[in-house]
Amino acid sequence: MPLRYYTAVPLIAPSILAADFGRLGDEVAAVTAAGADWIHVDVMDGHFVPPITIGPAVVRGIRKATPLPLDVHLMIEHPERQIDEFVKAGADRITVHVEACADVPAVLDAIRRAGAKPGLSLNPPTSMEAVRPFLHLIDLLLVMSVNPGWGGQPFVDGSMERLSTARAMRGESATRFHVEVDGGIYPHNAAAAVAAGADVLVAGTAVFKEHDYAAAIRALREGAPAAQPVA
Ligand code: DX5
Ligand code: ZN
Repeated sequence: MPLRYYTAVPLIAPSILAADFGRLGDEVAAVTAAGADWIHVDVMDGHFVPPITIGPAVVRGIRKATPLPLDVHLMIEHPERQIDEFVKAGADRITVHVEACADVPAVLDAIRRAGAKPGLSLNPPTSMEAVRPFLHLIDLLLVMSVNPGWGGQPFVDGSMERLSTARAMRGESATRFHVEVDGGIYPHNAAAAVAAGADVLVAGTAVFKEHDYAAAIRALREGAPAAQPVA
């Protein structure tokens, strides 16, 4: 029999990719005051994904604007080369892509040794089986529900099933990690994502493109049921 327990209200992690980069510190402070749980930071290198976003210097700036955990999502090749700099800059969690790591356990171990919580992510076309061997090494599994690179894309069909698979894999492996979903999350599909398996909802457009950040965060949280049985 798999363990049964209940999730708390889902955590909301606004993605700063949709923020006004000219006023980034103020934007981060504003979502902090509006009830965010984590700040999601999308790092892109122009290789793993076409766009280039930000690096450790900007993370250092964000660190001063909020006491919340910084959830750094590295969409970069050779993530092992950057881990120490991001942790020094203030990252609390570092998530790398299974598609970008030559030696996944070594990268996850380097994140933990540097003092951050390791996460592993996978793109919509990647089999969920690709992460199974590493579940005992992670604090977070980030299920991408869009192809990474841009905010504002539609939720990819089949992602709800992948969240269910993530939850089932967690139950079967008797390991504990957050299941986070990233891409195309809005109040209308937040409840379904949580019911399917997500504990943490990343949302860029659904928060930063709204005028009232507190109402936007509440809508995401309340769109999701307060407690769901987890198999
Ligand atoms: C996509 C990023 C996401 C993105 C989500 O590559 O990883 O975090 O900001 O944006 P929305 O919520 O607008 O789909
Ligand atoms: Zn992200």
